[in-house]
Amino acid sequence: MTSTDNSPTRRRPLQSEFDTGLDYPRLGAVSFRRGTLTDNQEKMWQDNWPRLGRELADEIIDVDAWFGRSGHPTILEIGSGTGTSTAAMAPKEADTNIIAVELYKPGLAKLLGATVRGEIDNIRMVRGDGVEVLNRMFPAASLDGVRIFFPDPWPKARHHKRRIIQSGPLNLIASRLKPGGVLHVATDHADYAEWIDELVDVEPALEFMGWPWEDCPQLTDRQVITKFEGKGLEKDHIIREYLWRRR
Ligand SMILES: C[S@@+](CC[C@H](N)C(=O)[O-])C[C@H]1O[C@@H](n2cnc3c(N)ncnc32)[C@H](O)[C@@H]1O
Repeated sequence: MTSTDNSPTRRRPLQSEFDTGLDYPRLGAVSFRRGTLTDNQEKMWQDNWPRLGRELADEIIDVDAWFGRSGHPTILEIGSGTGTSTAAMAPKEADTNIIAVELYKPGLAKLLGATVRGEIDNIRMVRGDGVEVLNRMFPAASLDGVRIFFPDPWPKARHHKRRIIQSGPLNLIASRLKPGGVLHVATDHADYAEWIDELVDVEPALEFMGWPWEDCPQLTDRQVITKFEGKGLEKDHIIREYLWRRR
């Protein structure tokens, strides 16, 4: 059989590969991270994902309708992993809507389980690439905060283009933040920290606030150590934090 446009081996282009009007480069190969759910997780997923989660789509999220309340600040966490810290933090900021974005389904399943069992009502989840989620599911100036804790460091030089902290995604994040909204990044990876150091002023719409920033209105978020932070601390890694404010 000859290969045609309909061949199953031919990848359908992503929406983002068309002209979106946004000036940011592709991150490189960002794929869904599959994994097997336990029977209990599968049941939890079937019963609760339709209410608390959604998949990446070309559909602007109606945050007020999704959370069933209006007028509350909304923070997007990109790369929530297993969500241990997300679930621990959310009750401490119950007035804030937390949307966790993750590629890794078993991680989302863990967070979903913790959210349901803990009766936490201010967490929702999106499964997909955080850059695409921002691009396709949130309008300009709609978020009060974006959190990226311990992003994948992609240590090999040829993979640096996959790092989420780079000028294109920073520009996209800035566009989705409200004026005064905060981007908060943390890493324990020394080389990634050096990379971010070079980029702190690259996006004109983001004012670098350094760390600590005592009067930051949204800084309840680091009262809990994340799973990867814990691993870094066990290896005596230095944790570096970065805060920017949307001008
Ligand atoms: C090193 S882990 C950190 C997880 C968590 N923040 C923590 O500190 O324990 C990075 C996570 O980001 C997720 N991730 C990587 N790229 C992503 C992207 N473009 N969009 C959403 N999640 C992403 C990975 O699947 C992984 O779970």
